Amino acid sequence: MQTTYWDLTINSNKQTIDEAITEAAACLKKGLPVAFPTETVYGLGADATSEAAVAKIFKAKGRPQDNPLIVHTATKEQLYKLVTHIPPFVEKLIQHFSPGPLTYILPTNGTCAANVTGGLDTIAVRIPDHPIAIQLLEKVNLPIAAPSANVSGKPSPTNGTHVWNDLHGKIAGILADGPTGVGVESTVIDCTGKMPIILRPGGVTKDELEAAVGPVIIDPALANEKGIPKSPGMKYKHYAPDVPLWLVTGSNHKIQEVINEERQLGKRIGVLASTDTAQLLEADQLISLGRQPEEIAAALYEALRTFKERNIDLILCETFPEQGIGQAVMNRLKKAATRIL
Ligand code: TXA
Ligand code: MG
Repeated sequence: MQTTYWDLTINSNKQTIDEAITEAAACLKKGLPVAFPTETVYGLGADATSEAAVAKIFKAKGRPQDNPLIVHTATKEQLYKLVTHIPPFVEKLIQHFSPGPLTYILPTNGTCAANVTGGLDTIAVRIPDHPIAIQLLEKVNLPIAAPSANVSGKPSPTNGTHVWNDLHGKIAGILADGPTGVGVESTVIDCTGKMPIILRPGGVTKDELEAAVGPVIIDPALANEKGIPKSPGMKYKHYAPDVPLWLVTGSNHKIQEVINEERQLGKRIGVLASTDTAQLLEADQLISLGRQPEEIAAALYEALRTFKERNIDLILCETFPEQGIGQAVMNRLKKAATRIL
């Protein structure tokens, strides 16, 4: 399949954007998969009401069939049409956080194709907070199933070029609009009980959720390696760069020691660290992710992809405080890691 790359960063006047979106929407209507930016990561979209269109997403990504997809809508009215009912606390959450990086798991009413939900009786729904995503969803006027637009198991794409590198030739097109803002995926919450349960930490933090609706539970499987996660996707190895990654907890001295030991074995070492730690280290390649947790989240996936081209044998990454969006960052890093020191 030939992949069209609509580069909206260079052709960014209203007319060229409208034309690109019209073409992308036409592809989606024909049942072809198209990638688009959201505020979290790029998504690979297809008509969620068509089993055949959704099957193309799984095929392009090489995604396991039992890992269900998130369905995106432009408005809450469209979102309501996909589920049996909206509990009052979800109404409140929608008021606070949608559009935004929050995904609701609710009972499906069967409007979307069965392969969207992997046979579950619940469906994941969200309203993305990105002007291109919203324009596309409005134009196509269909619920759009969209997992992250990466090859399954790789870090999620935070730029159009990442999508191109993973999926060109396998999808109809890519609406490329530069880097996404949040950088990690949406928070997934199970809303089928009395209280929301966080199944995947993400762009909206636990504290923000609790400030809006009171106590929120964290799926115990997130803390416990052996638990069976309620979110099917959380059981897979994820977000992995092409090079082994070790997570190292401790001071810059400890990290430097590990660097030195591994270099003595002839390995070229890449390091991911906050700006302050990176300044204190010596390695073959150092990537400083920034100072604030939000900057670190935004820079993480791009950094994980960078090492592939640099002749690096091992990535060492420092650990970050599991607070705020740091919870999502550490969740992804633990999944990406081949060893935790
Ligand atoms: O930020 C995001 O959420 C991005 C952008 C593109 O919107 N999308 C994304 O989709 O990260 P994906 O497919 O990579 O992750 C969806 C997650 C998976 O962990 C999946 O198992 C979970 O949501 N999920 C989907 N439907 C579910 C359901 N019915 N019950 C529990 N978990 C579900
Ligand atoms: Mg994903």
